[in-house]
This record gives sequence, C-alpha cells and structure tokens, in this order.
Amino acid sequence: MTSTIQNTTPTTPDDADLVAGFPFPFLEDRYRYSTNVEPAEQPVTTPAGQWGTAIVDIDSEYRAEIDQRAAILAADPTRHAVLPHMVPATWDAMFTLMRELDAAYPEQMQLRSTGPDEWLWRNDILGIEQHFRYGDATTLPDEPLRYITSQVQEDIALLDQRNGQLFVDAGVVTFAADWSFGFDVGMSFLEIHGPVPRVRREGVITRAHEFLKRLQPHQPYRRSNWTLTIDRRLDVSTEIYPEWGPDREAILLVDDAEFGRRVHLRVEVQHLIRLPDSGAVMFLIRTYLLPLELLATVDPWRRRAAEVLAELPEDMADYKGIIKYRDRAARWLRNAARQSAPTGPG
Ligand code: HEM
Repeated sequence: MTSTIQNTTPTTPDDADLVAGFPFPFLEDRYRYSTNVEPAEQPVTTPAGQWGTAIVDIDSEYRAEIDQRAAILAADPTRHAVLPHMVPATWDAMFTLMRELDAAYPEQMQLRSTGPDEWLWRNDILGIEQHFRYGDATTLPDEPLRYITSQVQEDIALLDQRNGQLFVDAGVVTFAADWSFGFDVGMSFLEIHGPVPRVRREGVITRAHEFLKRLQPHQPYRRSNWTLTIDRRLDVSTEIYPEWGPDREAILLVDDAEFGRRVHLRVEVQHLIRLPDSGAVMFLIRTYLLPLELLATVDPWRRRAAEVLAELPEDMADYKGIIKYRDRAARWLRNAARQSAPTGPG
C-alpha cells in the first residue's frame, strides 16, 4: 500500500482532507460497547472518502500534531514512560513503525539496511536522515519509542504479557481522552478498564483480553472508539482537566453557529499489533477530530450521529463526559438538515 502526502505544512486544518479521511465510527443508529476488533487489511470506503489505507496515517495535520506532542512532552515528562524490562519492545516498536512508514509512504519515508544490524532511516517530510544500529541506544538521538512518536501522529502504548495477563508498561501518550497515561503505566489491561461502565457485566473486556493474549505477529487488528470534544483539542488528559473540563458546561451558553464550530466528534482508530521480536503488544491510538459543522456536510453521517447521540444511555454518556451537551448536539445535527448537501444513502 502506498500513499502520497500532499500539503504537509498547513497552518489551519485542511477541511477537505479532514472530511475525506474521517473514520466515521457508527455502523448503525444505536451505539453499545463491544469487542469491536477487525483485521486491519482493507481500507474502509465512506460517503466522503476513505480511511484505513495504512496502519500509520499521515494527513494534513502531521506537522501541527507532532509539534503539539513535542510541546506537551517538554512541559510534562510523565506522558512518556518505559519500564526497564520494556527496552527491547521499544526497539521492536520503532522498527515495526519505520517498516510500516516505508511501505505506506515510500516517497517520503525510507528504511534501508546498511550492514549487519545497521540501518539508515530517512523521513523527508521532516528532513531527517539517521544512521542507527538496532538495539544500540548511543546511535539514536532519543529513546526509541520517543524518537518514533516524534514522527507519527499516533500515541503508542506497549503491553507486556506475563503470568497470563497484559500490562501497560511503556508508552508515549500525549493525546489521551480523559485518562492519564502517567497514572495507568504499570497497570494491567483489566485494571485500566475498571472505570468503564457495563463492560465487566457484558464480558467485553475479558473477551478483548483473551483475544489480545492470542494475537499473532504480522496480523494487525484495529478497532475504533469515540466521544465528543470541545474545540480542536487533542490533549484532553486528566492532567490538564482544569483547562478543558469547564468547557463542557460553558458550551451550552454559546449560539448555534459557535456550537457547530466548536463541538467535535472525536474518533480514535486503534491498532493492535503483536511485535515480532519482543512479543509485546503495540497499541496505536490515532485521534481524529471533526467539527459538527463539517460532519453535517455529509448527510448520512449527520443523520446517524444525531440518532446515536440522542439514544445513548445515560451511564455511557456520563462516562464519556458528554452528558451535559449530547442532547443539544443531537438537536443541532437534526436541525442542520437544511444546510447539508445530500450525498446519498450511507
Ligand atoms: C477505555 C474497550 C484496548 C486503554 C475503553 C472503553 C472501552 C474499551 C469500551 C470505554 C470507552 C468510552 O466509553 O469512551 C477496549 C477494547 C480493547 C481495548 C475492546 C481491545 C480489543 C485497550 C488497550 C489499552 C486501552 C490495549 C491500553 C492502553 C484504555 C483506557 C481507557 C479505555 C486508558 C479509558 C479508561 C478510563 O476511563 O480511565 N476501552 N479497549 N484499551 N481503554 Fe480500552
């Protein structure tokens, strides 16, 4: 699979690109939690375009998002952690991602062998040319996981498998949706999902855990998750809650035009990959944000998102942090019918 990257240095979001590549998450008019994993093989065609062509997705927000990540890491080092036993997995993760980038974007990204365990990595978008020896930390400017997350839009968590359980023991996570990587690091997969309503009763997380423990190398899987976020704000982590939490009430005071501009459907495309050398599980989280005013330009998305938001049970809306404004979001989408251009059945 190959793609060409266009327009990699925008100062404002490229609306057409954001809509065309948006991974609209709702398969029906009602949303419930499920162990929604599928092989990451086929791109998904939507009424607006396509997503899922590559495991690592580069779009017109590339530079803006990696600049944000660098600023967040500089301000808060707890967004990056590697427990000592995870060092081999960080090399495995970096190398796997370089291979993926090379395969998906060969004109801009290249990984070439230059000798036994010696490699040349080129990222022409960022003007990087780096010789390194696999496993030799002195040959890279940074810790391998941090090095590669400074060149992809994805957040990354690495899970160690031991004693029949998975543990989140390394990662670089700067765009967490209402959770804290620094708090969760070292915790088990089952502990981390403790706060999610319904899932224990319904067996969603125990099934996911069994599935992940059986995951094989070279068989990547993907799933999606979603919420709403006020403004184009990737970092809505627990750490900086005071900066974004109050917006959830303040948004009720704005007029309709501002509401449609500021409320975004936030979708995470998550990839699950068993790393071939270390055996760790790599969890990639790529976050997409689309304001309701752009979502409403695709009529099947507008209609379906309105239904899902209106029907979502209270406990799920509460957990997602959208309980105060989801009814208004549903109404806004229903009322936007007159402005949106029909694009056929979804
Ligand atoms: C939250 C399922 C993999 C970390 C959630 C939620 C669900 C879920 C249903 C609630 C989301 C919401 O309402 O917005 C799954 C399934 C997985 C999976 C089915 C795999 C098949 C992972 C992995 C990690 C992870 C590998 C590793 C970091 C989290 C975290 C939260 C979460 C941190 C937020 C928990 C909180 O409120 O503190 N997950 N997940 N998930 N998941 Fe997963």
